[in-house]
Amino acid sequence: MQRRQFIRVIGSGAASTLAVASAGSVLTGCSAGMPAEAIEAWRGPDSALANAPDVRHWLLSYAILAPHSHNLQSWIADLGTPNQITLYCDLKRLLPQTDPLSRQIMMSQGTFLELLDMAARERGLRADITLFPQGAFGAGALDARPVATVRMTPDATVQKDPLFAQVLQRHTNRSSYDITRPVPESAWAAMAAAANPAGALPMRVGHVGLDNAAALAEHRRIARDAWRIELTVPRTIMESFDVLRVGGSEIAAHRDGLSLTSPVVVAMERLGLFDRSRAPGPDDYATTSQLKEFDAKMASTPGFLWMVTPGNDRVTQIQAGRAYVRVQLAATAQGLAMQPLSQALQEYAEQKQPYADIHALAGAAGSGSTVQMWARVGYAPAVEPAPRRRLQDFVRV
Ligand SMILES: Cc1cc2nc3c(=O)[nH]c(=O)nc-3n(C[C@H](O)[C@H](O)[C@H](O)COP(=O)(O)O)c2cc1C
Repeated sequence: MQRRQFIRVIGSGAASTLAVASAGSVLTGCSAGMPAEAIEAWRGPDSALANAPDVRHWLLSYAILAPHSHNLQSWIADLGTPNQITLYCDLKRLLPQTDPLSRQIMMSQGTFLELLDMAARERGLRADITLFPQGAFGAGALDARPVATVRMTPDATVQKDPLFAQVLQRHTNRSSYDITRPVPESAWAAMAAAANPAGALPMRVGHVGLDNAAALAEHRRIARDAWRIELTVPRTIMESFDVLRVGGSEIAAHRDGLSLTSPVVVAMERLGLFDRSRAPGPDDYATTSQLKEFDAKMASTPGFLWMVTPGNDRVTQIQAGRAYVRVQLAATAQGLAMQPLSQALQEYAEQKQPYADIHALAGAAGSGSTVQMWARVGYAPAVEPAPRRRLQDFVRV
């Protein structure tokens, strides 16, 4: 945020300050002030873990780098059974307003399982994953039953996955992209192939690039409409505010959620101008300027990718999460940046129109199919990693 803008924001009142500071910086991913310990997980496991007799901590140190909606990290790894990790979902880490059916939470369990599987392969282990060993969650709500058991068995025939090399490099990138650089067809093909390596998943991956200006414009319009709704529905913007971590000390205390490290935002917080207790109005400068910034980012985006499944049961959602992280790792290998755009995919009433629009655009309307993931793709400068909690915070013995 420029100084002139900052002064205008200050002049427009605390509520506006709140939204500019939060949503704006979440999207821009400002870089100052990230505490080193909050991102230590991205250095990979230390050598003591590599040599430990119980390999499971080493495996988990990679799995916790998985992408998760709002960076909630809802993973509990129970190590009570030898050679096994039983994965539970932390029911205190859900997003009931923006993800009322917990579809994205399930995808975020899938991303974790995929990285766990890749890490096991690195160590010559076959990870036998049994989803929902006590039965799958219902369509509406999660419960305390396990998400999966993962049994590790040494197996000389397991193949390492080349995408594993990208795990420490993968980051969600919310910056402006380079509109002058199209995403090459070979890169789209690599992403699609990564989603479904054995060709066995019922999953369709689509994309649009700079060669289809009309479709690109429609993607940008839907993304904007959906973002405006999320910004202006008080209960949905408040849900994001609840997981905002502003400045080094909050980030260090939580090591999850959406980090704001812009010095300007942190200064506003310290001045008491960052009121996270109520939502800004739709016509506040904060909201309108935020939409403007979002539009500029969409205009900078040379391509969009989507992933569609014919079904939408809990197993499918987990498979979609596994596929998504593979797609993002493949993009990373191609030097590409990626940011999911989940707003239009969300199942709350106010998003009905953008939901219908993106399903129609992705060829998924009227067929019972679900767009599980929609993301912008392009070239952009590198961003810093997102925080992760300590490994022991995920482990239950
Ligand atoms: C199912 C799912 C939905 C997501 N939706 C969004 C989104 O709408 N906007 C966004 O900026 N990031 C989205 N993300 C990315 C997460 O915010 C990101 O993974 C998290 O903040 C951790 O950062 P990292 O991916 O850089 O490790 C999503 C991730 C997942 C797995």
